[in-house]
Amino acid sequence: MDVLALTDGELAEIINADRYDAELRAQADALRREHYGIDVYIRGLIEFTNVCKNDCLYCGIRRGNASAERYRLESEDILGCCETGYRLGFRTFVLQGGEDPHYTDEIVCSLVSEIKRRFSDCAVTLSIGEKERDSYAAYKAAGADRYLLRHETASDEHYKRLHPKEMSLSHRKQCLFDLKELGYQVGSGFMVGSPYQTAENLVEDIRFLQQLKPDMIGVGPFIPHSETPFAYFAGGGLELTLRMLSILRCFFPNALIPATTALGTIHPRGREMGLQSGANVVMPNLSPVSKRKLYSLYDNKICTGEEAAECLKCLAGRVESVGYKIVVSRGDVKK
Ligand code: SAM
Ligand code: FES
Repeated sequence: MDVLALTDGELAEIINADRYDAELRAQADALRREHYGIDVYIRGLIEFTNVCKNDCLYCGIRRGNASAERYRLESEDILGCCETGYRLGFRTFVLQGGEDPHYTDEIVCSLVSEIKRRFSDCAVTLSIGEKERDSYAAYKAAGADRYLLRHETASDEHYKRLHPKEMSLSHRKQCLFDLKELGYQVGSGFMVGSPYQTAENLVEDIRFLQQLKPDMIGVGPFIPHSETPFAYFAGGGLELTLRMLSILRCFFPNALIPATTALGTIHPRGREMGLQSGANVVMPNLSPVSKRKLYSLYDNKICTGEEAAECLKCLAGRVESVGYKIVVSRGDVKK
């Protein structure tokens, strides 16, 4: 099957199929092997603040969740996480957080440049939301290499149902195009099975990504959080998420695609199946164990109790169990 030649209607049909398609998965795996062999890149995720000025309806750390216990990591703590990660073989650090005004451009820039000074063979990825173009330019000048900003959904109407009215899809898209122009390796993506999502929305997501041409694509199931307006919605399904990973690998043969923690949360072998369906990245947690549970985007998140070294050992075993291998590398995109 030539996935790239399918019409929107045909793609929607495949997305809607209620079984996992072995042919599609084999095609995706063959493509990932052609471009990346059996290598799996690791990214050390540092969730450095759960304070957020936004109120995305699906997100457990939205500002409207009064029961969330908030935390912020100091720069020295973040550098300590990098130090631990470096010793374990990480060569990419992902700094992720809510949109927290406490971390001014000045603080972000000095943090990024200090990480690059201490760990000069490492890549720094930022995932701190929508900012002004000048801010993105400043972080880039300070040494940031990559930026993750999921578009969440490429349908305006769907976007409005997931976000408060002060947020807009057009601004999020603008941020992504600014980041590209500034020379970042850019990651976008979306949740699978978010409230009100249709197969047609997912086709729109693929079409938007074809326009953006991202280097990284983050896709994981939506999982409800009990303290959000979407507490009683169903979560995204395993099969559908795996099918989306395979379809995306076919469209973007050389993209960096993580098997997400959310996928590992909805099924004990979710990440392994994600790798077999076309994913080639995993993102173990480097955040201090004492803070892990507080970065609660959704209920029952896994990997909140283990030290970084244990997390990595567990993941390495999982990766090997399905025939792939974790490598010590920055893991840049292969163009
Ligand atoms: N503030 C940054 C941003 O907006 O890009 C980064 C942090 S944000 C929590 C990271 C991602 O978590 C979002 O892009 C969203 O797709 C995902 N996320 C949030 N709530 C989720 C949920 N309930 N289930 C699954 N993923 C979720
Ligand atoms: Fe801001 Fe989720 S609402 S990180």
